[in-house]
Amino acid sequence: MALMDIRVYGDPVLEKKTESVKTVDDDIRKLVADMYETMKAAPGIGLAAPQVGVSKRLCLVDLSAGSDPDRLLVLVNPEIISEEGYQKAEEGCLSFPGIFGHVERPMRVKVRYTDLDGGTQEVEGDELLARALCHEIDHLEGVVFINRMSPLKRRLVMKAIRKLRREGQWEHRPGEGSEERA
Ligand code: NI
Repeated sequence: MALMDIRVYGDPVLEKKTESVKTVDDDIRKLVADMYETMKAAPGIGLAAPQVGVSKRLCLVDLSAGSDPDRLLVLVNPEIISEEGYQKAEEGCLSFPGIFGHVERPMRVKVRYTDLDGGTQEVEGDELLARALCHEIDHLEGVVFINRMSPLKRRLVMKAIRKLRREGQWEHRPGEGSEERA
């Protein structure tokens, strides 16, 4: 298993819609193992394939941030099939080091996906799990969380990013920051 580089905002792969995974094979399972190590080291509660430079419809969600392997969800070709309610809370993203902001999400979602054995599964989540699922599935559509912030907040965030970039600070550094990022 190997740690992968987490791409930060500005890398075009983050704003590109991903391609569906055709077959769950050993290459996919190897990618998932490497992504899991990378998410744990970050640490984060989710990681989508584009964040490690792979434009495939595949993501991980793990509210334990890698501390409990039983809680890992590996979602191949996930689709939100129902959603209800509304929540607004602060989010972070491993591709936006040091940036946090409030984002509106559904309170509860149901997601259909393919598992690592090629079977069809469904998962239902509310609150933080719903938020993490929506955040990751957005990544697979090429949508990053600042797109869902208010225009004013987004302007402030863009200003902060430009400053960090000028200072050569715009990169992901493993082990830094909060586990609430995805
Ligand atoms: Ni993210």
